[in-house]
Formats: sequence, structure tokens, C-alpha cells
Amino acid sequence: MITNETLRLIASRRSHRAYTSTPLTQEQIDALLKAAVEAPSAVNRQPWHFSLVRNQKLLDEINGAVREGMMKKAPEKRSPRLADEKFHVFYHAPAVIFLSAQPGNAYSPIDCGIAVQNIALAAESMGLGSVILGMPREAFQTDKADALRRALDFPEGYDFVIAISVGIPVDDKEAHAVGEGKISFVD
Ligand SMILES: Cc1cc2nc3c(=O)[nH]c(=O)nc-3n(C[C@H](O)[C@H](O)[C@H](O)COP(=O)(O)O)c2cc1C
Repeated sequence: MITNETLRLIASRRSHRAYTSTPLTQEQIDALLKAAVEAPSAVNRQPWHFSLVRNQKLLDEINGAVREGMMKKAPEKRSPRLADEKFHVFYHAPAVIFLSAQPGNAYSPIDCGIAVQNIALAAESMGLGSVILGMPREAFQTDKADALRRALDFPEGYDFVIAISVGIPVDDKEAHAVGEGKISFVD
């Protein structure tokens, strides 16, 4: 089996759900965002916008809006994580990057997915941890959505696509189990 630094990095990435409050350095932030904008995108549209948030009050507000949005759903459609009152959508990470894009282009969520994985791998390479977050989407389905889009400096007409929490992790976990039957060799 071939192995090298990049393959080891991909294999060692995990989702981390607990962080120290130590802020990221400007150098770390610059490196994460550089990795983000270096991602490929369909016809090089670069359809994304990245909002780096360190304001914990704003993250608490979004966490509250996610809870509010989730509670309006049928109980079976709510994330089981919400049962824990201490649960925080961003896991108290010192920095969260929000990716937004204009709705309506089929490739934009794919492009943003590639960019967010670049951020996750860049974080891993610097000894930081991360977790990709779809759940904040719920906040953008509430009546607070417009105010949150403004607070996050989304460009006009852009909406939430995905977010990623980054920080120094304090948890540890095994690699996820790999599902069976996910690969076909078609010769
Ligand atoms: C598109 C996407 C959305 C996700 N949303 C969340 C989320 O809202 N909250 C969370 O705790 N983890 C979220 N995750 C992390 C996944 O749960 C995690 O990647 C998966 O369980 C595999 O574990 P691993 O990342 O440690 O390999 C998300 C991952 C992806 C790719």
C-alpha cells in the first residue's frame, strides 16, 4: 500500500467536538484561508465566500437560533444531540469559518465541500482539530436568518452552505468505520 505524508494526513483527520479556548494565531488563520481559496471549483467560478468568526457571542446567538429552528421540527427529525442541554453547535471552538454561496448553482455546494475539506486537512497539518458543520443551516431557516447573514457578512444574495469549527482539540477518537460495498471496480 502506498503511503506518504498527504495520505497519512487524510487518514489521521477526525471530527473533533471539544476544544480549548486558545485562540488561533493570525498565521494559522491565514494558512487555513489560503488552503480554502486554493480549492478547485467548477469552471473556476470560486462561488464561495468565507466568513471567519471568533466572536463567541455571535456563535452563541447562532447556536440559539439552531435550537429554535430544530425545536420547530417533529421530534424524530431533530438531532439527538439537542437532548443534551450543554450541546453547542460549534463545540466552543475558538474559530468557525462559514462558507456561503449564491443558491441555484448545482456545483456550488460541491465546490464549497471541497474547500471545507481543504480547511480540515490544513488544520490537521498544523496540529489543529476541526469538525465540518451542516447543522448551522437550521439557523438560516428561522426569522433570524437575515440578521445572521448580515452579521456574518455574507455577500448580497448568498446563503449558508457549510461551516467548520477549528481549534486545539481536547478529544480523541478512532477513525470512522468504513462502510462496506462502497467501491466497484468496473473493468
Ligand atoms: C457535510 C457534513 C456535515 C456535517 N455536519 C455535522 C454537524 O452539524 N455536527 C457534527 O457534530 N458533525 C457534523 N459532521 C461531521 C460528521 O459527523 C463526521 O464527519 C462523520 O461522523 C465521520 O467522522 P470523522 O469526521 O471523524 O471521520 C458533518 C460532516 C459533513 C461532511
